[in-house]
Amino acid sequence: MKNLWRVLPFSFILLFLAGCGKQNLSALDPRGPVADMQHSLIGLSLLIMVFVIVVVAAIYIFVLIRFREKPGDNHIPEQVEGNKNLEIIWTAIPILLLIILAVPNVMDTFTLADTETDDDTLVVNVTGHQFWWEFEYPDLEITAGQDLYIPTDTRIVFNLEASDVIHSFWIPALAGKQDNVPGITNDMWIEAPEEGVYFGKCTELCGEAHWLMDFKVVAVDPDTFDEWAQGMAEPDSELIEPTEEVAAEGREVFEQNCLACHAVGGEGGNPQGGPDLTNFGERTVIAGFMEYDDESLEAWIRHPEEQKPGNLMPGFDQLDDDEMDSLIEYLNSLKVLDDE
Ligand code: CUA
Repeated sequence: MKNLWRVLPFSFILLFLAGCGKQNLSALDPRGPVADMQHSLIGLSLLIMVFVIVVVAAIYIFVLIRFREKPGDNHIPEQVEGNKNLEIIWTAIPILLLIILAVPNVMDTFTLADTETDDDTLVVNVTGHQFWWEFEYPDLEITAGQDLYIPTDTRIVFNLEASDVIHSFWIPALAGKQDNVPGITNDMWIEAPEEGVYFGKCTELCGEAHWLMDFKVVAVDPDTFDEWAQGMAEPDSELIEPTEEVAAEGREVFEQNCLACHAVGGEGGNPQGGPDLTNFGERTVIAGFMEYDDESLEAWIRHPEEQKPGNLMPGFDQLDDDEMDSLIEYLNSLKVLDDE
């Protein structure tokens, strides 16, 4: 039992640190130039802080031992108050350290704050909603929900907005966080040199399901991105009028129940509604966090409130099993990229 109490704190620390280790969800494992810059700044600050702690602690311990009171010896050590050389040394060292810290900080701050765009920049307007993310690509006339597709090796500039309360947009492996504030537009930029999925989080307490307000950044090569953008802008007619029978029935269920809030292929939805679902079948999670399979999808559609408290989607428990099955079939068919 005694051992348990010794080990317990460490197990918690381990558990906590293990959580930080999820691939592409760590600021300590930067995957792009912005995160790299921020990571080196943290590293430099840490280095200087550790240096100061070590030096001060060493002097402190030395003084404690060297000048401790010995029995029979009660003479007072030499007083150094007003010693010009010492005063200069311990004024100059901190100034020097601050300069070492300030130069890269100021330089990187200007680089990071520079959100100028040119012809090669991809602009994405990011809107935080309770509790999901909307990604609008103004130049491409596309709106996507939850999954943020970006081309690799391209400068991406985000305009951050919010529709209800304050949220905060964070892709730890690609860049530090920035707030989405209603009525204010903040901006930031990123670049992702490597293809992959980078996980994102809302980091501002924004309501009951704040902790479930996750999203994904899917970095693909520029050709795949063009294909995706093309598919989103002009979706296959299959998505609107499926030829397959079950999916066609599902489309009808969708039109009656879902289309007023969720757009597919530029049709339907409304500004107060939910995420665009044009490429829903390509997601790997439902509602940002549930594993994508038919059971979870049904659980979500019937009782979304139980899965993600406080979200605005009403439940559709009135659908019978056939309607539900065909609706799920239709949702699974919503894809804009060719299956590899
Ligand atoms: Cu949105 Cu927390």
